[in-house]
Formats: sequence, C-alpha cells, structure tokens
Amino acid sequence: MVPDGTTPTPAHEATEAPVFDASDELGLHHEPDFVGRHIGPRDEDVAQMLEVIGQPSLDAIIAKAVPGAIQGDEQLPMSAAPTEQAATAELRAYAERNTVARSMIGLGYYGTHTPPVILRKILENPAWYTAYTPYQPEISQGRLEALLNFQTMCSELSGLTTAGASLLDEGTAVAEAMTVMRRTAKVGAKDNSAVLLLDSGLLPQSIAVTETRAEPLGIPVVVADLAGVDSVEGLRAAAGDRDVFGVIVQYPAVDGAIRDWSALAEAVHEAGALVTAAADLLALTLLTPPGEWGADVVVGTTQRFGVPMGFGGPHAGFMAVRSGLERTLPGRLVGVSKDDEGKVAYRLALQTREQHIRREKATSNICTAQVLLAVIASMYAVWHGPQGLRSIARDVHGKARRLAGSLSSAGLEVVHEDYFDTLAVRVPGQAGNIVAAARREGVLLWKQDEDTVLVSVDETTLSADLEVVAEAFGVSLADRLGPAMELTWPQQLQRTSDFLTPEVFHVHRSETQMLRYLRELSERDYALDRGMIPLGSCTMKLNATTAMEPITWPEFANLHPFAPAEHSEGIRALMDELSQWLCDITGYDAVSLQPNSGAQGELAGLMAIRAYHASQGQEHRDVCLIPASAHGTNAASAVMAGMKVVVVKTAEGGDIDMDDLRAKVEKHGPQLAAIMVTYPSTHGVFEDTIADLCGLVHDAGGQVYVDGANLNALIGVARPGKFGSDVSHLNLHKTFTIPHGGGGPGVGPIGVREHLAPFLPNHPLVPGAGPATGVGPIAAAPWGSASILPIPWAYIRMMGSAGLKKATRVAILSANYLAKRLDEHYPVLYTGNEGLVAHECILDLRQITKDTGVTVDDVAKRLIDYGFHAPTMSFPVSGTLMVEPTESESLDELDRFVDAMVAIKAEIDAVGQQGDADDSVLRHAPYTARSMAGDWPYSFTRAEAVYPAGVNPATKYFPPVRRIDGVYGDRNLVCSCPPPEAFED
Ligand SMILES: Cc1ncc(COP(=O)(O)O)c(C=O)c1O
Repeated sequence: MVPDGTTPTPAHEATEAPVFDASDELGLHHEPDFVGRHIGPRDEDVAQMLEVIGQPSLDAIIAKAVPGAIQGDEQLPMSAAPTEQAATAELRAYAERNTVARSMIGLGYYGTHTPPVILRKILENPAWYTAYTPYQPEISQGRLEALLNFQTMCSELSGLTTAGASLLDEGTAVAEAMTVMRRTAKVGAKDNSAVLLLDSGLLPQSIAVTETRAEPLGIPVVVADLAGVDSVEGLRAAAGDRDVFGVIVQYPAVDGAIRDWSALAEAVHEAGALVTAAADLLALTLLTPPGEWGADVVVGTTQRFGVPMGFGGPHAGFMAVRSGLERTLPGRLVGVSKDDEGKVAYRLALQTREQHIRREKATSNICTAQVLLAVIASMYAVWHGPQGLRSIARDVHGKARRLAGSLSSAGLEVVHEDYFDTLAVRVPGQAGNIVAAARREGVLLWKQDEDTVLVSVDETTLSADLEVVAEAFGVSLADRLGPAMELTWPQQLQRTSDFLTPEVFHVHRSETQMLRYLRELSERDYALDRGMIPLGSCTMKLNATTAMEPITWPEFANLHPFAPAEHSEGIRALMDELSQWLCDITGYDAVSLQPNSGAQGELAGLMAIRAYHASQGQEHRDVCLIPASAHGTNAASAVMAGMKVVVVKTAEGGDIDMDDLRAKVEKHGPQLAAIMVTYPSTHGVFEDTIADLCGLVHDAGGQVYVDGANLNALIGVARPGKFGSDVSHLNLHKTFTIPHGGGGPGVGPIGVREHLAPFLPNHPLVPGAGPATGVGPIAAAPWGSASILPIPWAYIRMMGSAGLKKATRVAILSANYLAKRLDEHYPVLYTGNEGLVAHECILDLRQITKDTGVTVDDVAKRLIDYGFHAPTMSFPVSGTLMVEPTESESLDELDRFVDAMVAIKAEIDAVGQQGDADDSVLRHAPYTARSMAGDWPYSFTRAEAVYPAGVNPATKYFPPVRRIDGVYGDRNLVCSCPPPEAFED
C-alpha cells in the first residue's frame, strides 16, 4: 500500500544514460558513477580487505555471516538512474507536478523568509547538516551554542525559566506537555482518574496527536470551550464534573482569538493542576508571555522562524517550563558547564533523564529531535534580534488589521475583536465559495465550516495577496496602516517585558558579521565533512549533495501540508514510489511515512500491534519482551504504548538467551503482546536464532517488532517482513542518507505486514494520509517530515538494486576489516558465524580499564587529538566502544582509524607499564590550541599531546575546549546563554 492508495507514477522518462561509458570499454561490470561515489573502497581495495579478513568474495561473507534460514534471493526491483543529473531531472519532474500557491491557511504552518545567509551557511552546509548529536561535547561546541541560543529564545519569549533543545513538532510537543503535567500534578495521580482538559481552540492536529498518545496511557481527555472558565467549579464542570490534572490552551487560538487566560490559570492552580499554553513565538513578541499569566509549560513550533513549511516538516517543536519542572522536560537539554581549565563549555545536561539510560523510566522516547531546524530558528532570531522580530510581528499584525478593516467596513463579521495574524470571518453558507474564489487567484484560505473562513497572514504575505483575499470576499482592500499603529488588544495582554536579552541577539546585524559567526561556530565542530564518524548504531554515511539539493526547491519547501491535494501531486507521487521501494526492500506490505524519528516509528508500530490485538478481542495482551541489549527507546516507546516491559537476558555469547526467552514466553503467554528485537543485533551480530524467535513469539500469539535501525546490514540480504517480523521502523536518517543534522531531523517510517496495515497512523485533516481505521496521528503533519523525503528517494534511485546490495556488502566488509585489524589490540566482544560481525563491531575495553585505569572515555577523548569522532561509548555494553564504519569510508580513512587506535593502544600500554593513568596523555585529552601556550604541568610533551603519530600538523583539528566536567554542570544547572563575564579569563 502507498500513502494515498494511488498507483506510483514514476517520472523516469527524463533519464538518459551517458553516450560513452568507459567502464564498459574496460570490460568492468557497469554500475552508475554514483555507486562508486557513494561507496568508499575502490574495487582493488575491496580485494585487499577481503584478503585481510580471509574471505574470497563479498558474497561469501554474506553466505557465512547471515543465517541461511533468513537469506533469500533478495533481488530488488529498483533500477538505477544512469547519472546523478538524470536523478535530478526526475526529481525536477516530480517538483513540477506540485503547485505552490500563496498559503494563508495558517493552522500552525506559515510562510517565512529563510534569510539567505542562513539558508546557504546552515541548511545547505555540510558542516552543519552532517554533524552528529552532540554527545561528544568537546567537538560539538558550535551546535551546542546554537542550541543554547534556541533554548534562550524559547524560554525568554515564553516567559519561563528553562527550555529544551527541540521537540519533534508542535503536535507531539502538546502531547509531551500532557505527560509532563501528569507526572507533576498530584490530582488523580494514583488511579489516573483526573482529566486532561483541552481547549477547543487548539490546533486540530494537536488535539488528535494528544488523544492518540493519551489513549494507551489511560489518560482521559476532554475537549471543551474554556473561554470564560475562571473558577475551580467552572473547570470541573468543563471536564464533565471530574477532577482535572492539566489544561492546554492555544495562544492565540486556531481561529485567531487572543484570550486572557490568567483567571483560568489561577483556577487551574487552585485545583492543584497545571496549565500549558501552545503559543506562537512570533505573536509572543507583542503578547504578554504565558509565563507572566501563569502558564507552567509553554509549547509550540518554531517553524515560522525561517524554516520552510516543507509540506509539514521537518520543523523544531519546543517546550519551556517554569522553575522546578526542568528535570521533567522531555528530550535533550543543553547546559553550561566548565572544562578542565575552568573555561565555560557546553554539553547536554541531565543526560541521566535520557531514554538510553532510563529505558522504561525515561521522561519520553525522544532520541533524534530537530537540531538542524532548531539551529536555523535560533539563527533567525540572532539575525533579526528582538527589534527585528517585533517589527516582523507588527508588520504581520498590521496586514491582518488592514484586511480585517476592509472586511468589517464592508459589513462582514470578523468574529474576534482581538487577534494577531489570523482572522475568522463569518460568511453564512459562503465559506466554500470564498475559499474557491481565492484559490482560483492563487491564494489558499481555510474553510473552518460552511459559515466560517480562516485567513492567516505571515511575513511573506504581499498587498497583492490581501487584495485577492478581499476580492474573494467581494470587498476592496483598505489602505495600509501607518507605522504608528497601536495594538488594540487589552493592555494586560500587551507585552512589556524584554526578550532575547543576551548579547548574541544584538550584535550580528550585518551579513558579514553573521557569516563570520556561523563560520566560527561550525569551525568548532567535527562533522562528517572533516572525517569519519564511526558511531555504532548510527550509520554515519555519505549524505550526497545531489540528494540534498531538492529539499530547498520551492516546490518541495513551500507547500502547506493542508494545501489542496492537487497541489501536492508531485511530492505524493514521489512518496508513493518511495513507499513502494521501502516495501520491496523490507518485504512488508504497507508503509507509513508519518513518524518523524525512529522512536516515533516504534511508538506507531507498537500502537498498531496494540490495535490489532484489540481487533482480535485480545486487548489484555500488554507484555512487551525486550532484550537487555536493546536501544533505550524501545522500552520507552513500549511504556508509551501502554505496555509492560519484560527484559529478556543476554546469553554468554551476546545472543538473546533463548532459554530465558522460552521461559518468559511461557510465563506471559496469554498476555504477550510483542517482542522488540533489533536485527542484526545491537551487538553487531546476525543471530542464528532470529527465525526461531519469531516462531516462538507467534506461536504464543504475540507480534514481532524488528527494530530496523540496523537495516544498513540487511538491504539486499534479507527482508524482515519475510523472515518473520510483523513490523519495523526504518531510520531513513541512517541507512537512507538523510543527514543527522547534529541530532535531527529524522524520518522513522514503519513497514508492516498486511494484517497490521489497517492500524497505521492517519490524520484528522488529510484522509489520504492513512487508513480510516488507523490509530490516529503520531505526528502533527500527515506525512511527517515530507520535505526531506527526496533524499532517500534520490539515494535509492541513484544506487539501484545492484548499488544498494553492494553498499550493504561493503558496509559489512568494512566492519569486519576493522574488527580483524583491531582485535589483537582491543578484543572484539561478539562475533557470529565464522567469527564474522555484521556492519558494526564492539571493542571491549573492560579488561584494559581494569589493568591500566584507562577508560573508554579516555580513549574517546584521545581520538579527538587524532582527528576522529569517537565510536559509540558504552552502548549496548558498558565499558566498550561500538564501531560502525559504513560503506562510505575509503580504505585510507579506515586505515587512518586503525592506526590511531593502535597508537592509542601503545599509549595505554605505556600507562600499564608506568602505572599512572592520571598523569597520562590519555587522561587529560583532548588538548586545545590554547593549552599549548600556557603552563604545561604534564610529564609528556606538548607535541606528544597534539601531534601524535599520523596527525598532519597542517590539517590538525583542535577542539575549542578541554575535557568537560558534566557533573559540575548538572549540579549548577544553567540552560540559557551565560553572561559575557562568564567567558572572562
Ligand atoms: C537500535 C536503535 N533503535 C532505535 C533508535 C531510535 O531512533 P531515533 O533516534 O530516530 O528516534 C536508535 C537511534 O539511534 C537506534 O540506534
């Protein structure tokens, strides 16, 4: 099945093979150039690597490493575009089938001007988009500063003390606010009896996402008109005479109304409950911030701060909370700490809240978030500053006023007297006609009901657009308002407090300054454009430029997600084709592209399982088996899907302990809902038992969820949908080359077998986005982060079946090459058949640490001095490093990594002989350029510290800070921009 049930219509006519093909003349197996551009090792390198690992061919590795029971003849039907240019031409053909009209729909998505300096220096700049989540803070100071700016922007505009470093979108942010309030409020906490009260003025997609998320948690939700509720009794009455633990209002409401919620907030607090405002950050430059009228939590989207609508995403959602709630914040939080020299340094704070560590006790399942988009939004605020934002807001409001004046002076009813950018206009029985008339002239309005039209103005709206709208209503447009326009809403709702107070929001006004600031930040960071990022489980491979280009084309970037279906014909056809390819690759029958991260895919998949059991009269099935080695999001998602987590042990060799599994299946049989397994396992091994495991769980009536994060080892090798799995999420931001963006965006579609297809996500406003019988929306937008889907489309199209298969094989070859070369220095913890690993391997440092005191942390930080990003630390096994080279790294780069690791092992051995890790070059790593010039209290030389073996002084990367003290930062939590004095020596 494809998203809207239409047949994929490829636009392949535009392709053309090159006239002269040198590779054919040389008698080489023909493959498109792109395959050789994407895959690092040359054919002769492959031969050399095979020799090192003692295997005759790429196919032989697969034959030996992968259990025979799951190996199929995985011929994929996709052909490759002959050239990158041909793929681009096809993408252009898709783009041209879209119609970009002027959107005045609103509903949470607005036109915005991405400042060109930000477009080019961030969104189109691999230094930003190829970076990884800043878990290694010493090499991530640039993006951490940008995220701190983001947090400061969100918290100051909201009027609350602390904001997180982005959520997935506004709808999920509202749903997260529900759980923050549920965790905090005491009312009805014991038996979940109290109600979440949603104002009917919330965005419809936010209501729907929240209802979807509340249902498995057993949280009762009531939607009511809360205007005028100002007492505890009124609150109870609105909730159907029940206790209330939390209230969420939109500010301004979906129909534009600005309401004073202060009396409501007072009543909510008197009732022992909390209140959340879903707020528009641009409006908050002029409106009293919710923190000042009593909101405990503020959520929303930062889309209109320079991030294109993108047919729904990706955009950064946000959450800010009042003092005292910071430890309940979902997602990541950047904090200020200090490094070894006492200098200010940033890092992710309170990481113990993260789902990696807390698993089923995590505050949410958020892992991949929206870092790149949060960086863009924060830089929009840096670029415009408080005055600039205020003047954009006044301009927007002025345009809305001009239109409102034109309409009301002609006798039309503009429903709300107080509004910011959105007008609700009452036109009994005429809404459809008016919307159609505007659309004929290229402007999109929203028909709220037969009698009401919504019109939203944004910074891109022109006078000509207002004229079209006025004409559609049959009136003529009034004159522009003067710059001295007074705000007309009540005084107590007019903002008087400052915002964007730190210096960074005041000094980058010229493009030259901005250019340099962005360069300065990206220079501090290590991204894929500097060197290898061998992070196990993360698949940091090439993000090809050709695949990246289309995402900023207006035809993909400037579509409103609720635009008429005919306007999105091209992108929907592209999504249909992509969905079909994903089905072909995975062996599933249907795909939903809606989840905007892997973890959201997990939730969607588990919700589908839950709904399926319910449809079979088996709603009591609520146990989810999860191996001890699973990624923490698995457990966190299971809890969010209303399931109980039961952990399955790991056997001696690293595989799932089948005896323990049998015992648990037997024990929980009638209650068994599902098992979640990662394949190949997070231990980097193709487990032999996978087919038995699926059989065992199915026989007991459970469903099998295969976490597809490791699909890079499976494409063209085996298909989960055919070897026994019922559902998987795929991380398109790993295997399918959507860049990590410093920690997001991501896309986590799920593939399901036929019986689960009726339970895929859907959307309240766009029926074609999923089955009518679906579980509800899992993300705010019908197709989640649609505008970045051309990236995986281009990857698959440029690789074709043969290229994809080769990529998998080379990824596995490269991991085995590293495993083989490093094993004598750092034992490889787990291997499968014939001593082979899958696409990653775990290096065991536990004995080394025991013998010498040198830790994985020391090695990770020392790798920075050698010019590398560290592998994944202590996941899934504490005290180890997990290495995933991917197919994109050349043999030279693999060897450079091996050489660095071997050289580090020599440094460790020296510690072993001298016996003092604390005085070692490892313990004090990494070293900054500044540290070279100051006192040198160490027993090793400066040159040994910064120019170890193999490092080229001419191209050396220096981190901007020394090792960061995370504990200090958590004890002294500061999560917004520090004052300039903090940076003084
Ligand atoms: C094995 C595994 N499962 C699930 C996830 C969650 O995916 P996401 O970060 O996109 O939410 C990850 C992410 O790193 C992972 O490695």
